Amino acid sequence: MDTTSPRIIVITGASDGIGAAAARLLSAAGHRIAVVGRSPEKTAHVAREVGGKHFVADFTDLADVRRLATELDDAYPRIDVLANNAGGILGGDRTRTVDGHERTLQVNHLAPFLLTSLLLDKLLASHASVIQTSSVGARLFGHLDLDDLGHDRDFTPHRAYGTAKLENILFTTELHRRFHDQGLSAAAFHPGGVATNFGAESTSFFRPLYQSRIGKMVLVTPEKGAAQLVRFAQTQPGAAWQSGAYYESGRVARRVNPQARDADLARRLWDRSAELVGPR
Ligand SMILES: NC(=O)c1ccc[n+]([C@@H]2O[C@H](COP(=O)([O-])OP(=O)(O)OC[C@H]3O[C@@H](n4cnc5c(N)ncnc54)[C@H](OP(=O)(O)O)[C@@H]3O)[C@@H](O)[C@H]2O)c1
Repeated sequence: MDTTSPRIIVITGASDGIGAAAARLLSAAGHRIAVVGRSPEKTAHVAREVGGKHFVADFTDLADVRRLATELDDAYPRIDVLANNAGGILGGDRTRTVDGHERTLQVNHLAPFLLTSLLLDKLLASHASVIQTSSVGARLFGHLDLDDLGHDRDFTPHRAYGTAKLENILFTTELHRRFHDQGLSAAAFHPGGVATNFGAESTSFFRPLYQSRIGKMVLVTPEKGAAQLVRFAQTQPGAAWQSGAYYESGRVARRVNPQARDADLARRLWDRSAELVGPR
C-alpha cells in the first residue's frame, strides 16, 4: 500500500456516516482532509476531529456546488483524491430542487458531476483519483431512461435512488474513458449495508430497517463501510485497483445492472448531464 506521501483528499458527505469514518481513517494515516458536509455544525465538528478544513454546501442548490468548487480550488494547490460520497435515498414524493431537477438525481448525480467538472483542471493537473460511493441499489432498482431522467413517468424513492447510483457507475466509466490517458483515474463502489443515517430522509423501508435493532445487528460499522474508499484514496490505480471499474466487497463486481456496461449510454449521460447543469 502506498501510504508514504500525504495526499490532499476531498470527501463529500464527510459530516456523517461513511464519509466521516473515511475522513478519520485517512487523517489517522497522515493525509490532509477537506471535510465537505451539509450541516455546518456536524461538518465543523468532523473537521476539528481530523484537523482539516471544512466546507459546507447543500447539493439541492447547484449555486452552492459552484461556490464549493471555487472554495476548494482556492484552498488547495492540488487535489489528489475527490471522493463523491454525499447522497442517499430521499423523500417519498417526487420533489424538484431550486434548479428544477428531481432531488435524488441532483443530490446523488448532478451535483457531484458539476463539482467534478468544475474541479477538472486541478484534478487533471494532480493526476487525481475520483471515487464515487455508488450502491448495489443500481442493480436492484436502477433503470436509466435519458428521456425521463427526472422520473416523471415512474418515480418511486427506490427507482430514483437506484438509477442515480447507476449514474454514479456510468459517470465513473466515462470519466475513465475521457481522462485516464491524461492521468486521471476513477472508481465506484458499493460500501455494503452500513449502519448510518441512510434512509432517514425517506419514506422507504430502509428507514425503519436501518434504525431497527435487527438492522443495527446486520449492518456493518461506518469504518468497515469506508474501507474501500480508504483503499482507493491512498493506493495507486493500476497496481492496487482498476480505473473505470465498479467494486463490491473489495473486488470488481461481476453482477451489475446491464445498463452499467453500456459505454454509449455513459457518453450520452455525460452530455445530457452537462446540458442540465449548465456551463462549467
Ligand atoms: N449506508 C448504506 O448502507 C449505504 C449503502 C449503499 C450506498 N450508500 C451510499 O453511501 C453514501 C454515504 O451515505 P451514508 O450511509 O454515510 O449516509 P449518512 O450517514 O446519511 O451520510 C450522508 C452524507 O451525505 C450528506 N448529504 C446528504 N444530503 C445532502 C445534500 N443535499 N447536500 C450535501 N450533502 C448531503 C450528509 O450531510 P449532513 O449529515 O451534513 O446533512 C452526510 O454527510 C451515500 O452516497 C449513500 O447513497 C450507503
